[in-house]
Amino acid sequence: MSVISQERIPNNVDLASDKRLQRALEAWQPSFIQWWKDMGPHGFQEDQVYLRTAISVEPDGWAHFDYVKMPVYRWGIFLADQVPDRRIGFGDLMGEPVWQQVPGEHRNALRRLIVTQGDTEPASVEQQRLLGRTCPSLYDLRNLFQVNVEEGRHLWAMVYLLHSYFGRDGREEAEEMLHRRSGDQNKPRILGAFNEPCTDWLSFFMFTYFTDRDGKYQLLALAESAFDPLSRTTRFMLTEEAHHMFVGETGVMRVVERTAQMMKEQKKDHPDDLRKLGLVDLPTVQRYLNLWYSVSLDLFGGEISSNAASSFAAGLKGRAQEDRYEDHRALTGTYAVPRFQNGALVTEDVPMRNAMNEVVRDAYIEDCQRGVDKWNRAIAAHGIPFELRLPSRRFHRAVGVHAGQHFDPEGNPVSAEAWQASQDAWLPSAADRAHVQGLMREPVMEPGKMASWIAAPKQGIKGRPVDFEYVRPRQA
Ligand SMILES: [Fe+2]
Ligand SMILES: [Fe+2]
Repeated sequence: MSVISQERIPNNVDLASDKRLQRALEAWQPSFIQWWKDMGPHGFQEDQVYLRTAISVEPDGWAHFDYVKMPVYRWGIFLADQVPDRRIGFGDLMGEPVWQQVPGEHRNALRRLIVTQGDTEPASVEQQRLLGRTCPSLYDLRNLFQVNVEEGRHLWAMVYLLHSYFGRDGREEAEEMLHRRSGDQNKPRILGAFNEPCTDWLSFFMFTYFTDRDGKYQLLALAESAFDPLSRTTRFMLTEEAHHMFVGETGVMRVVERTAQMMKEQKKDHPDDLRKLGLVDLPTVQRYLNLWYSVSLDLFGGEISSNAASSFAAGLKGRAQEDRYEDHRALTGTYAVPRFQNGALVTEDVPMRNAMNEVVRDAYIEDCQRGVDKWNRAIAAHGIPFELRLPSRRFHRAVGVHAGQHFDPEGNPVSAEAWQASQDAWLPSAADRAHVQGLMREPVMEPGKMASWIAAPKQGIKGRPVDFEYVRPRQA
């Protein structure tokens, strides 16, 4: 179904036919806009940005590209088309028809899943709000804003579900989404990675590669849900998420490409020499990767989880791409979870349903590795003997069976003293951050120009050239 977006809130859910819901969402809208102005991209609210806007869910034309000022972006509500006679694909109720309403006994659990997902969306906008003033090019600036407005739309998607299906508690939760703040001591966002500062572009690219990819896997798992409106809304969100991960993958790629190319040209490999050339040295890239990968792994939750088991049993949340698995009930079989106990490696065989977080984390790790391989091929193509690596899943974890212990990037247990002594070699140090931020002190705002530390993209956006004026400053 295509959408005529003359309404105040563009949508394909026939909002006009439900006056109560429409009024409730129209009442939430000004608070959202106010939040966007307060916490959205700082300093660019009056600029014209070449953005795509979702206008339908048709696979071959759901987006419209044009210049728009961000505060008047048309955030809308879009659900993927209903699959006729869709059945529950996993868990105890496998084969039964999916639900169009929330069953009373699952109300709290479903609301918690939706709130947890929804909270990440405004959180990332808040984390990234100062990045515009240090952008490496207009192309990158536009991509940042594209990601930001779409995270705003993802918030709309979750708020729509809360308003339509959860009554008063849902409306209260929707209000709370606009009150928590990323990194705030008193009212932080719900999940750890969404309270980490993301104040430089290397972090932004790592975030969109690793943390948005967690988003992809959460959305894939929710797309399997027996609660059909949740499945439909997350299926459409996934189409937008693909661009966010593209920004991350190509962003890191352009950084390592620029560094590798200069290493070859200048015949230099010492980080100090490369830093003097205005580059990000590859060991620093590795340390940023270690940080963002490990905090993103935490987002999948504990390895052994009765919560995950009951969500799976009830049909609330499946595995990513459930049809790739053979046994959709997962009542038999175990998953071996290795962990260290008093310095010795022990393996616990966990009933499969209780290991669902780990099963989804496995799929995520495999997916992460693909981009790392591409980055390494680019480095190798310049003849540079350096390989980026995903650290062990035990490294730097704050959630699950490895939390509270120390491991090196290979996953070997280390003492607290050794951890202290090696932290600057494994995670971004104060000096790394100072260097990275020093490279990014000034924005690069001339069409087609790139900062010293990043290669130009291979192509522009939507067939536009790389030197297109993707962001037009406000008229003085
Ligand atoms: Fe999102
Ligand atoms: Fe995203």
